[in-house]
Amino acid sequence: MKAVTMKKILILNGSPVKNGNTAKFVAWFAQEARKEGASVKVVRAASLSSKVNGCISCRACQKSAKYECVFKDDVNDVLKEMQKADVIVFATPLYFYGPSAQLKLIIDRMFSLYKWDNKTDTFVSPMRGKSMGLILSAYEDIGLDIVEKSFKFIADYSEMNFSSFLVPDARESGEVEDIKGIRGRVKKFARGLKLHHTCRTL
Ligand SMILES: Cc1cc2nc3c(=O)[nH]c(=O)nc-3n(C[C@H](O)[C@H](O)[C@H](O)COP(=O)(O)O)c2cc1C
Repeated sequence: MKAVTMKKILILNGSPVKNGNTAKFVAWFAQEARKEGASVKVVRAASLSSKVNGCISCRACQKSAKYECVFKDDVNDVLKEMQKADVIVFATPLYFYGPSAQLKLIIDRMFSLYKWDNKTDTFVSPMRGKSMGLILSAYEDIGLDIVEKSFKFIADYSEMNFSSFLVPDARESGEVEDIKGIRGRVKKFARGLKLHHTCRTL
């Protein structure tokens, strides 16, 4: 007998603009994913408490068996959600050829989701086997490949599947709707992320 399990998707929206391009991609993606039966949670990185910390490389997380950071702020809750998700989608505008600082701050805190053993050069992580999506837009068509590459590196390192949706020439915040067929392309990308898996049961 086959059982279909719907996936849990966590979308991290790195844009500070509430109704901008990234917000539109996230809304279209989430709508399609929910239509396909997935459960979707969206976190706006910019709405986290202004007192959240970046990683300070204290390495306390490496001395603890728990996959959590010593800073008990909003990012720690996001890290817990990441562990529960099957698919993690990073959505960000290109800011000076990188992701937004708000999103990068969460990414660096992912340090606590890896337990390294330098003697054997190995690590364990709950990220292994999950899927990663990247939604990235920019005003022009320069530098998106650099950011895509860095996310792909994280995914490969973590043994996660990776797919990306890049939108060059998205222009100013909110103008992305002017790109013909963009909504349909986001939805196709969402469907392509395989929002459910089938497993055999007795
Ligand atoms: C601080 C800042 C830096 C930006 N840096 C770049 C850049 O390096 N290259 C580029 O093409 N667009 C850049 N942009 C434009 C945004 O990436 C683009 O308009 C994006 O689609 C906006 O998405 P949003 O509406 O979700 O914030 C920048 C915008 C801001 C506010």
